[in-house]
Amino acid sequence: MNSQIKRLVQLLEETHGLSDEQFALLLTAEDDQLSACLSERARAVREKYYGRSVYIRGLIEFTNYCKNDCFYCGIRKSQPSVSRYRLTEEQILQCCAVGYRLGFRTFVLQGGEDPYWNDDRLCGLVAAVKTGHPDCAVTLSVGERSRESYQKLFDAGADRYLLRHETADPAHYRSLHPEEMDAANRLRCLNALKEIGYQTGCGFMVGSPGQTIGHIVKDLQFIRQFRPQMVGIGPFIPAAGTPFESQPKGSSELTIKLLSMIRLMLPSVLLPATTALGTAEKDGRERGIQAGANVIMPNLSPADVRQKYQLYNDKLSTGEEAAESVAKLRSSMEKIGYNVVTDRGDYLTE
Ligand code: 5AD
Repeated sequence: MNSQIKRLVQLLEETHGLSDEQFALLLTAEDDQLSACLSERARAVREKYYGRSVYIRGLIEFTNYCKNDCFYCGIRKSQPSVSRYRLTEEQILQCCAVGYRLGFRTFVLQGGEDPYWNDDRLCGLVAAVKTGHPDCAVTLSVGERSRESYQKLFDAGADRYLLRHETADPAHYRSLHPEEMDAANRLRCLNALKEIGYQTGCGFMVGSPGQTIGHIVKDLQFIRQFRPQMVGIGPFIPAAGTPFESQPKGSSELTIKLLSMIRLMLPSVLLPATTALGTAEKDGRERGIQAGANVIMPNLSPADVRQKYQLYNDKLSTGEEAAESVAKLRSSMEKIGYNVVTDRGDYLTE
């Protein structure tokens, strides 16, 4: 490997950051050995902090109603063909009970921005999950809300919050979203979440339409400065019926390289090998784990609603029951030398 590139990997590992130019060099270098080298270093760092444990989060997609119209998203408001559903609190608690028996100790309640789930209803739900499973963490992923709302949900017992920043470049953000959404509001939300005390996750799609290397550099610098406890990244995958349906999909190779770079920047970050990566490549989750990721988020939603939560084409969703998919996951992780653990898997403070 070119010695300049090699030094940059070392510098990233030692100082947890690089200049814009240096990041751009690493992202564009056409060096076969670079990804292998990044992945090896990222693996070493993740093992130092988390050993070979893989944390699982039970993902419950509890509503696909959404008031937003993001150009990339398969459940955007103006998708004509989506059959909308909303799980009841009872159904959601049932998913948690099944998940608990399978070893899940974190439940991720994810949904579109659905006005039905106002603060009272959502706080009631969070409190009910925590009462039923006091030893579990609850992660929310329900988009932009007011600071007061985030505070109420935190007080009701929510521990973590996922809100991808989507892109750190305001003009690029505009090009992915309708008029009424803007990057400044997204940042306001992320800052509020962190200040309130949530373990907070940001993230972006790799290869979203119009994304340049310069934008990814900005994303990395944003992540470095924001210091999230979690980072979610996955390749962009076009969704039929959206304005971006004919756009090319994002690169899995670049996604995997970025997972390694993010592990080196934030050694103790909780980093999922995402469903999008698992959808784009049949061994995507395994490759993500081998490149420094340490979290997997299997779907705990009832089998009959899963195909209705199609954020993008062919989103990974088997008809199999949660139990079956967890058993498969355990064995596929064992094959590559990792162990799925029954653990809340909280962020380690360095
Ligand atoms: N391809 C990949 N990821 C997508 N998301 C939404 N639509 C797509 C798509 N077409 C991601 C967004 C969002 C998260 C829930 O899913 O980054 O924040």
